[in-house]
Amino acid sequence: MRDVAIIGVGMNKWGELWKSSLRDIAVESALKAIADAKVSRVDSIFIGCMSSGLFTGQEHMASVLADYLGYGRVPATRVESACASGGLAFKAGFAEVAAGMAEIVLVVGAEKMTDVSGNEATYALGTAADQEYECYNGATFPGLYAMMAARHMHEYGTTRRQLSLVASKNHDNGLKNPNAQFRMKVTPQEVEGSVMVSDPLRVLDCSPVTDGSAALILCPLTMAKKLSGRAGVRVLGIGHATDTIALHSRESLTTLRAVKEAGALAYKAAGVKPADIDLAEVHDCFTIAEIMVTEALGFAKPGEGGKLVESKATSFGGRIPVNVSGGLKSKGHPVGATGVAQLVELTEQLRRQAGTRQVKNAEIGLAQNMGGTGGSSIVTILGRN
Ligand code: COA
Repeated sequence: MRDVAIIGVGMNKWGELWKSSLRDIAVESALKAIADAKVSRVDSIFIGCMSSGLFTGQEHMASVLADYLGYGRVPATRVESACASGGLAFKAGFAEVAAGMAEIVLVVGAEKMTDVSGNEATYALGTAADQEYECYNGATFPGLYAMMAARHMHEYGTTRRQLSLVASKNHDNGLKNPNAQFRMKVTPQEVEGSVMVSDPLRVLDCSPVTDGSAALILCPLTMAKKLSGRAGVRVLGIGHATDTIALHSRESLTTLRAVKEAGALAYKAAGVKPADIDLAEVHDCFTIAEIMVTEALGFAKPGEGGKLVESKATSFGGRIPVNVSGGLKSKGHPVGATGVAQLVELTEQLRRQAGTRQVKNAEIGLAQNMGGTGGSSIVTILGRN
């Protein structure tokens, strides 16, 4: 296998983008990444997109993207794994470069979610859960994560305040990210006073509905300097795993098995341990998710993710800053784009180009992206070259 580098990144400003279509936003980020990498061609394209059909009426997004980029003959592939579609598109692009099937690969993540009503968006997102046993009986994603939160509170004594601290921290970080959807300060009291969505989760515990895209250019590490003039950020390891699609089939509602396994595989591939990670972008689709993910990745012991956020270890300037981009909570969560955007953030951090959100001396970064309630997860570790 060849070593692989990221040599270009791009993303657009996320939010409710009524003036742009899905193809517009996908092309915008792709062109930024291509310009950043200084390449004049790509050999292969991957796009992570969860549900363009239900959100916009358009399927066959790989071909749409290649066509509108002016790369109509280049092989293009769409990858879907619910909210982990972007992370999985990256893995597919990585595999082609590592295997020698392509030299320069473009990976895009894109989703346009705000052109449909809230009910329609909830239905589209729900297709990532167990349709026959969960959604048919009325479960929604906020509802499913609320059950995980309630159980975590029951088993470990995780507090309402600890959930609020996740939202407050990530909104503080998002204030420094010009591409974030919700750039506002949120106090723990404001989270606790916001509208109830599904007990115990309130609206400010939830990631929003977002339009957005992000893109990366990959090439063999040995070609990075020649192509882009930069050493490139190195892909150290990837781990990918699945879990039961339905919550009721799990041994435990408070352990994200797919995240744990994907993390262990990624640490092994990269030859590092949790203590070596300088910063992490994790899938905080709901505040409880960040708490459970930090436990599954070994940043905290099982049940102690709430205490970790309370200790400020995951705050900017802390021992292991988590979601310095603002995370899904503040930056937004255009589902298919999220996994790619996490890697864009890490690349900018490792290049030391993250402006006011720069984590000092960042050498190794970890991204964790998750589909549904953890039915799939991918963990990618990047290193500064
Ligand atoms: N964070 C911060 N503010 C938010 C927000 C969020 N997550 N969601 C909505 N808002 C704000 C809106 O900007 C709006 O503010 P305004 O009144 O000042 O304009 C207000 O709250 C109401 O917004 P609205 O769009 O009417 O909210 P909604 O009730 O339709 O949707 C949720 C709120 C939480 C139900 C929706 O965002 C949601 O379903 N989130 C979860 C998405 C999800 O499941 N993703 C997949 C995860 S696996």
